[in-house]
Amino acid sequence: MNFKNTVENYGSIAKYLHWGTAVLFLGSYISVYYRHWFTEEKTPENWTALQLHLSIGVTIAVVVALRIVWRIANRVPDFEPGTKLEHLAAHVGHYALYAIMIIMPLTGYVGTGVNTEYFFLFDIPKFEDTPLFESLVSSGLGLTFQEFEEPIDFVHKEILGAWLVWILILGHVSAALYHQLVK
Ligand code: HEM
Ligand code: HEM
Repeated sequence: MNFKNTVENYGSIAKYLHWGTAVLFLGSYISVYYRHWFTEEKTPENWTALQLHLSIGVTIAVVVALRIVWRIANRVPDFEPGTKLEHLAAHVGHYALYAIMIIMPLTGYVGTGVNTEYFFLFDIPKFEDTPLFESLVSSGLGLTFQEFEEPIDFVHKEILGAWLVWILILGHVSAALYHQLVK
C-alpha cells in the first residue's frame, strides 16, 4: 500500500490518521461518560477518568494538527462521481468534522480549571496559568476565569459534546455505510 494518497485511494498514513482519530474520539466519550455514570465525585476513579478524558483530548489536538498538514501536502483521491448534491454534502460534512476536531480540544483545554496530567506522565499547565490567558482574557477582555469558562464549557459540553458531535459522526458513519453497502 502507498504511504501517500493516490488518484484512486487514500494512502496508509491518511488511513492510520483517520482511524487513530476515530478511536481517540471513542476514548474521549467513554472516559467522560464512565466518569459521569460509574464514579462518585471526589474519588480517585473520578479523577482518573477525568484525566484520561483530558489526555485523550489533548492527543486528538496533536493528531489533528498532523492530519491537517498531511491533508494539505497530499492530493485527495478522485472517487467515482456521485451527484452534485452528494459531493457537496460530503465536502460540507468533512469540513464540519475537521472543525469539531479542532474546536472540541480547544474549548476543552481553555475551559478546564485543572492541569492535564498527561497520561500521568507529565503536567500540562491549565490555560488560566498561561501568559496567553493573562494577555488575552484577563487584561484583554477583562474577564475572570469563571466568567470566561462558563460560556466555553456550555459550548464544549451542552452544544457540541452532547449534540452536534454525535449528529456529525452518526451522519458520517451512515454515509460511509451507505457507500459501502448500497452503492
Ligand atoms: C466508525 C466510524 C467511521 C467510519 C466507518 C468512517 C468512514 C470513513 C470513510 C469510508 C471515509 C472516506 C470516504 C470519503 O472520503 O468520502 C472517511 C473520511 C473521513 N472521515 Fe471518517 N469514518 C469514521 C469515523 C470518523 C470520525 C470519528 C471522524 C472525525 C471526528 C471522521 C472524519 C473523517 C474525515 C474528516 C474524512 C475526510 C477525509 C479527508 O478527505 O481528509 N471519521 N471516513
Ligand atoms: C475531541 C476532543 C474532545 C471531545 C469529543 C470531548 C467531549 C466531551 C464530552 C462529550 C463531555 C461531557 C458532556 C456532558 O456533560 O454531557 C466533555 C466534558 C468535559 N471535557 Fe471534553 N472533549 C474533548 C476534549 C477535551 C479536552 C482537550 C479537555 C481539556 C484539556 C476537555 C475537558 C473537559 C472537561 C473538564 C469536561 C467536564 C468533565 C465532566 O463533566 O465530567 N475535553 N467533553
